[in-house]
Amino acid sequence: MRFDGRRILVTGASRGIGRALALQLAVEGAEVLALARTSEALDDLPEGIERLACDLAGTRARSALIAELQGQRLDGVINNAGIQIAADFAKGAADAQGIEQELAVNLTAPMHLAAGLLPVLACSPGSFLVNVTSGLALAPKRQAPVYCASKAGLRSFTWALRYQAEDAGLRVRIIDCVMALAATQMTAGRGRGKISPKAAAAALLDGVAAGNSEIWVGQMKLLRLIHRLSPELTARILRG
Ligand SMILES: NC(=O)c1ccc[n+]([C@@H]2O[C@H](COP(=O)([O-])OP(=O)(O)OC[C@H]3O[C@@H](n4cnc5c(N)ncnc54)[C@H](OP(=O)(O)O)[C@@H]3O)[C@@H](O)[C@H]2O)c1
Repeated sequence: MRFDGRRILVTGASRGIGRALALQLAVEGAEVLALARTSEALDDLPEGIERLACDLAGTRARSALIAELQGQRLDGVINNAGIQIAADFAKGAADAQGIEQELAVNLTAPMHLAAGLLPVLACSPGSFLVNVTSGLALAPKRQAPVYCASKAGLRSFTWALRYQAEDAGLRVRIIDCVMALAATQMTAGRGRGKISPKAAAAALLDGVAAGNSEIWVGQMKLLRLIHRLSPELTARILRG
């Protein structure tokens, strides 16, 4: 099996795409470390999946997690945890705490995990680090400016990290997964043509197993093509 015996950290594993990733990896024989803010949220995962409680928005909790993992073997990291907050800046409805929280979970945490865990991954041949981004990294939607900025930032960071890893000869594949619209708590009550979290997770894992550095899930393949031909059209489609 493709991930048999591999030790893989999945953040945001309590529900949605992260949970589906953890379950599929476990079925494939991986040693899964499933992370969410509380261990209770991970209670109903099957036995054998290791549970890690950590608020990725908290600097101290994040540092403690990284220090703990630095003493262990790790073959893969999937930075999947994310939040999306609708905020209308023009109407004065964006609060500072929400902005900090969204940037911390979506952007700062994957950067800190990469900084702390890349050397660990580098010790393991065939290892990988996936950052889960979004079509909204290509162009923003009106309703969630901070989310879109965080995903654009994460995509840019992922590319630069890949260049550095390649130039340094590190045997760690740095992967950007441009996720499609999926039916999860994050998208409840909005959007059409959503895929299931299971299908989203399967596409991500297929991409990793295929050795890709860019994974375009579902309709994102079409968006990629449109974006190549016309960034303006992409912006109009995504604007909302
Ligand atoms: N769903 C989509 O259509 C879509 C499209 C493009 C990209 N994405 C991206 O795909 C990823 C997964 O999204 P999803 O739709 O599966 O989201 P979701 O169902 O809302 O799940 C989010 C996960 O992130 C965890 N999380 C949130 N804040 C956290 C924190 N401070 N510390 C640790 N964990 C935290 C949550 O765990 P707890 O709340 O239990 O702690 C939960 O497991 C995200 O990065 C999202 O931006 C999703």
